Amino acid sequence: MHTGQAFSRLILGLWRIGDWGLSPAGVANLVQACLDLGIDTFDLADIYHDHACEALFGAALRTAPALRPRLRLITKCGIRLISPSRPQHRVKHYDTSREHLVASADHSLRALGVERLDLLLIHRPDPLMEADEVAAAFTALKEAGKVAAFGVSNFQPHQVDLLQSRLGEPLQAHQLEVSLGQTRALFDGTLDQAQRLRISPQAWSPLGGGRLLQALPESPLGRALTRLSGDLEATPEQVAIAWLLRHPARIHPVLGSGNPERLRRLAQAQSIQLDRQQWFQLLEAATGQEVP
Ligand SMILES: NC(=O)c1ccc[n+]([C@@H]2O[C@H](COP(=O)([O-])OP(=O)(O)OC[C@H]3O[C@@H](n4cnc5c(N)ncnc54)[C@H](OP(=O)(O)O)[C@@H]3O)[C@@H](O)[C@H]2O)c1
Repeated sequence: MHTGQAFSRLILGLWRIGDWGLSPAGVANLVQACLDLGIDTFDLADIYHDHACEALFGAALRTAPALRPRLRLITKCGIRLISPSRPQHRVKHYDTSREHLVASADHSLRALGVERLDLLLIHRPDPLMEADEVAAAFTALKEAGKVAAFGVSNFQPHQVDLLQSRLGEPLQAHQLEVSLGQTRALFDGTLDQAQRLRISPQAWSPLGGGRLLQALPESPLGRALTRLSGDLEATPEQVAIAWLLRHPARIHPVLGSGNPERLRRLAQAQSIQLDRQQWFQLLEAATGQEVP
């Protein structure tokens, strides 16, 4: 079991696990391939794969129990989906009550078959969030040894401030959408806050869900990525990840590929250093305008 808080710089996200057609042994093989690449952190959620993602990952760990001590597991809670498996839900909603957060974490632990979650994130900001209740849930989970650290996802800076104001210890992570396809977090205070509070930002959809690469020949961004990847002897997707890694808030891209060969290439992005002008060239191409 890891004792520190450091997550690998690259994280494998398991949102798309249902598309990969993997058996538990296949998932275990993918996990091993990630470990071989230095990716030891895995991002799940209670709701992924229609609530079956954690159980599938847990089944993989049961086929290869030696893997568990080498992994860091992130999961999320707080969204209640309409689903045949949740007939009591009449409307999609958020639930950050103490009761639900604790029950959700307990459910995740059972599904994964592990004693402790390395990081638990509140998946979306809940307009009915009572920060004191969330703090009480976090304290209960921490004191029971069930969760090592807590964070949020998709929060605005003022929502992070509210929650942090009631917590006894710092939030460790903020998972948000940021990429060359979605640059808002660079300018709306989210990444500034992460840097100020030393909250690790985790970038979901770092390749825009694949759309950044699919539009290569047609868009200014696609052309800029292609040109720069030629200069850097890299692939466009490596350059897109290197662009995130260059940010001073120390962004952790949450990769969404289930393809080991693609993951191998993406891991190599960690050795690409974009200089300032290359970084701004891509920003300009992404936003369609030069900085003022
Ligand atoms: N917190 C949140 O609210 C939230 C929201 C969304 C996602 N997430 C997390 O973020 C993770 C990553 O999100 P994501 O899956 O959207 O990430 P992504 O890495 O931007 O997209 C992955 C998708 O892009 C495809 N792709 C990659 N390179 C490509 C290329 N060169 N050409 C065509 N397609 C390419 C992959 O296909 P292959 O599999 O074939 O490589 C895969 O389907 C999720 O798994 C989840 O853990 C969190």
